[in-house]
Amino acid sequence: MAKMEVKTSLLDNMIGVGDMVLLEPLNEDSFINNLKKRFDHSEVYTYIGSVVISINPYRSLPIYTPEKVEEYRNRNFYELSPHIFALSDEAYRSLRDQDKDQCILITGESGAGKTEASKLVMSYVAAVCGKGAEVNQVKEQLLQSNPVLEAFGNAKTVRNDNSSRFGKYMDIEFDFKGDPLGGVISNYLLEKSRVVKQPRGERNFHIFYQILSGASEDFLCKLKLEQDFSRYNYLGLDSAKVNGVDDAANFRTVRNAMQIVGFMDHETQSVFEVVAAVLKLGNIEFKPESRVNGLDESKIKDKNELKEICELTGIDQSVLERAFSFRTVEAKQEKVSTTLNVAQAYYARDALAKNLYSRLFSWLVTRINESIKAQTKVRKKVMGVLDIYGFEIFEDNSFEQFIINYCNEKLQQIFIELTLKEEQEEYIREGIEWTHIEYFNNAIICDLIENNQTGILAMLDEECLRPGTVTDDTFLEKLNQVCATHQHFESRMSKCSRFLNDTSLPHSCFRIQHYAGKVMYQVEGFVDKNNDLLYRDLSQAMWKANHSLIKALFPEGNPTKINLKRPPTAGSQFKASVATLMKNLQTKNPNYIRCIKPNDKKAAHIFNDALVCHQIRYLGLLENVRVRRAGYAFRQAYEPCLERYKMLCKQTWPHWRGPARAGVEVLFNELEIPEEEFSFGRSKIFIRNPRTLFKLEDLRKQRLEDLATLIEKIYRGWKCRTRFLLMKKSQIVIASWYRRYAQQKKYQKIKSSAIIVQSYIRGWKARKLLRELKHQKRCNEAATIIAAYWHGTQVRREYRKFFRANAGRKIYEFTLQRLMQKYFLEMKNKMPSLSPIDKNWPARPYLFLDSTHKELKRIFHLWRCKKYRDQFTDQQKLIYEEKLEASELFKDKKALYPASVGQPFQGAYLEISKNPKYKKLKDAVDEKIIIAEVVNKINRANGKATSRIFLLTKNNVLLADQKSGNIKSEVPLGDVTKVSMSSQNDGFFAVHLKEGSGAAGKGDFLLSSDHLIEMATKLYRTTLSQTKQKLNIEISDEFLVQFRQDKVCVKFIQGSQKNGNIPTCKRKNNRLLEVAVP
Ligand SMILES: Nc1ncnc2c1ncn2[C@@H]1O[C@H](COP(=O)(O)OP(=O)(O)OP(=O)(O)O)[C@@H](O)[C@H]1O
Ligand SMILES: [Mg+2]
Repeated sequence: MAKMEVKTSLLDNMIGVGDMVLLEPLNEDSFINNLKKRFDHSEVYTYIGSVVISINPYRSLPIYTPEKVEEYRNRNFYELSPHIFALSDEAYRSLRDQDKDQCILITGESGAGKTEASKLVMSYVAAVCGKGAEVNQVKEQLLQSNPVLEAFGNAKTVRNDNSSRFGKYMDIEFDFKGDPLGGVISNYLLEKSRVVKQPRGERNFHIFYQILSGASEDFLCKLKLEQDFSRYNYLGLDSAKVNGVDDAANFRTVRNAMQIVGFMDHETQSVFEVVAAVLKLGNIEFKPESRVNGLDESKIKDKNELKEICELTGIDQSVLERAFSFRTVEAKQEKVSTTLNVAQAYYARDALAKNLYSRLFSWLVTRINESIKAQTKVRKKVMGVLDIYGFEIFEDNSFEQFIINYCNEKLQQIFIELTLKEEQEEYIREGIEWTHIEYFNNAIICDLIENNQTGILAMLDEECLRPGTVTDDTFLEKLNQVCATHQHFESRMSKCSRFLNDTSLPHSCFRIQHYAGKVMYQVEGFVDKNNDLLYRDLSQAMWKANHSLIKALFPEGNPTKINLKRPPTAGSQFKASVATLMKNLQTKNPNYIRCIKPNDKKAAHIFNDALVCHQIRYLGLLENVRVRRAGYAFRQAYEPCLERYKMLCKQTWPHWRGPARAGVEVLFNELEIPEEEFSFGRSKIFIRNPRTLFKLEDLRKQRLEDLATLIEKIYRGWKCRTRFLLMKKSQIVIASWYRRYAQQKKYQKIKSSAIIVQSYIRGWKARKLLRELKHQKRCNEAATIIAAYWHGTQVRREYRKFFRANAGRKIYEFTLQRLMQKYFLEMKNKMPSLSPIDKNWPARPYLFLDSTHKELKRIFHLWRCKKYRDQFTDQQKLIYEEKLEASELFKDKKALYPASVGQPFQGAYLEISKNPKYKKLKDAVDEKIIIAEVVNKINRANGKATSRIFLLTKNNVLLADQKSGNIKSEVPLGDVTKVSMSSQNDGFFAVHLKEGSGAAGKGDFLLSSDHLIEMATKLYRTTLSQTKQKLNIEISDEFLVQFRQDKVCVKFIQGSQKNGNIPTCKRKNNRLLEVAVP
């Protein structure tokens, strides 16, 4: 809705007239009044057709906001009130949509607002063109190149606090979509004289002040600088501070911008080092020193500053010092060294400072170009923005002003050529009716300056190259001779000058009547500045610097690359670069912004009629309006015009078969455009009023929307149809696959069913066959049996007469006999070994022999056992008897038993009769000794063991001392009532004695032996044979023994491994003796 409310034409709510073409009546007064009226209402922009006149408001207006950008975006030029954005939008759109390279030419006096206008154009284009991270970076770099170049190339002048002291032309490159790709900046002639000297009320380049105010103490210290401006001779003191300018803040902005543009830290550092060196150069002072030959030689007054410069820049101090005192001239391969006097030394110093600074500036431009150059090699569309120093008329005008004003002349020339002259010539060429309009063509002034033979620049070059003494005065003389007759040249000495008597003109001056006014130039310095010479000693000293940037700035200082050819003069260089610029501009579609300065005071709201009038006159703006009014607002060749609007008429859409002009005629007739609104030229159609063009554009826009809808409709239809067909095709494919699958499944099912049915039938058939075969077989068998029986009956009937009645039984017995015979014979061969423990026995061959076979096995075993026993001697028999006895007594009762089975019972382990030690004992025992063995007798009181000899004789049991052999106790077998032992794996046993018997005084014996089983068995047998009574053997883990009067319980417990595998015995108390068994 908001858009609906905005103006749709610049005619709406207009203050004065927005387009001077509409001004009535048209004269200088009405022109100025219109501008003034609009200026008073803050309307600083006014059109002359497509040219924008901009009046510097000297205050910030709220017309550059993002909302304004949106308002002007994609709108027709005349739709909204005049604005620099409308021109930018028009230029950008015709670049993007019509593929026409554009240039925006911004002209005007110093301080008229050119630089600001160029920045507005750039920021507008940046705001409306493509977006995205990469594009934004390009935009940001392009925009941020401005603060860097302004800091180094702008300065405060009496006319402008931020005056551009160099010319700048920037090509912004776009791709086919209109997205920025990069840019190229060209710079023109920096006013380097400002580095060493500034006119009253002016400043040096901003960067010097910015660095001193904005850099940190640390950084200044590094650069060997001090904050105080007054310390530096090169900084004009009277206007070091500019109102409303914060140098310190600007310094931060510049550093930040340098970073964004892509300067490396070391590069930034080097740049500031060079700036510092330039500033410090100004502080070097010289004093004269008389030499023997009477000439003065300059010497540096205070070498401190020089030393610091050399430290900063890595230059050898002695080399630089020498370069300030001597000059080497090379003549015919001979080097001649001459001394410099003080004035020459100062000249050399200033030349060095100027050169250092201007070369640094050019390096900055090249470095920025490196960063912002387009990365791709695709075809580029270009928009050039030209912001070149404005026309300058100072009190003292020198070589710089001459050059600047020459450049402005050239720009005026191109303006004339492209607008006024071109326009008129076009009408004539196209055969359109036309009344000629007079305007001033400044080609003659351009010729005065640049003519290759008689031009001022050519003559200056000639003077500079001429041998002999050349001074500014000889140059002026030459000018007086050659240009005297020129209408636009004046000097006091020019012979035919109309101002011969004009004494206001000093001697050493000449005056040029520029298109923008008369300017008087002082010739002083022309030759020097044109020569732009730097002593070779200085450039060589610079090249030798241990500072990569400075070294790179003075390539001619390289002694191996000495070029004796003179470098081109400043004037000819400038002329050449301006010519290139003009050629470049001519290939592009021009857009003009003509800046006007409303007053000389840099003040808002002041409109100085005289000043504005002067600018209007020299800018030829009135003529511009007249030409515009007499002509047509718009023209276009027939072909593109038909191509653009052919969709508006049925006959021409979509194709017109015939000449383009006829097509356009048909088109315009069809659209009922009034006849006075257009004219047909030879190759172009001319449209008088912009409104008509807008009407055409609006119709086209509407029609394009309809066409877009149509295309969209058809496309959608096509898309849906294609999709449908694809789906249909897919459906068929899917269906066929599915059918195939379903049929496959069905077939498999039928197949498996058929197989089952088949198998059943086959089974049934087979079974039937089998049944039949079985039946047949049975029949056959039955027949055979019947036949056999029949034969048998037959045979028996036949043979009955030969056999007795029991022949059958005999045959049976005979058969049985034969079988038995065979059985025994086989058994004979299969007999197992004679070992009683061999468990093998052949398998039974016939079932009816089962019991026989078992019996035979038993008999055989008994027999082989007997065989085995028969081999025994009597002693062996005894042993086996004993072993048998032991088995009966202890098997499955005492855990020690299984270990004893394999041990043979030896009885006399101690050979008492043979050992002389036991002779006494042998003598005391006269009976046969059954057991002689060492046992442990357990002390009844404490359970400790003592070794004793245990003897068993036929009638007694004896215990004797092991060492001496003395008998300790003797117990008749009849007194032994019982032997007790545990069920465990120990050798303890108690021998219980009959109560009241002789040996029972001390109580029962508790002994332990390794051969307990043998001892107990032998004791048992001996007792049995002697007393005919079975000895009671008690096996229990807890039994009572009689110790003297006490009955003590001997208890066996499992556990305690204290003594390894040896059981231990411990008397616990009166009633308990504990034996721990492992
Ligand atoms: N559109 C504007 N709005 C507000 N102030 C403006 C505008 N244009 C210019 N100015 C003011 O005028 C001053 C001078 O403008 P600018 O530097 O653009 O002049 P110039 O034509 O480039 O001069 P020179 O030829 O010396 O470089 C600016 O510093 C600014 O203060
Ligand atoms: Mg400027």
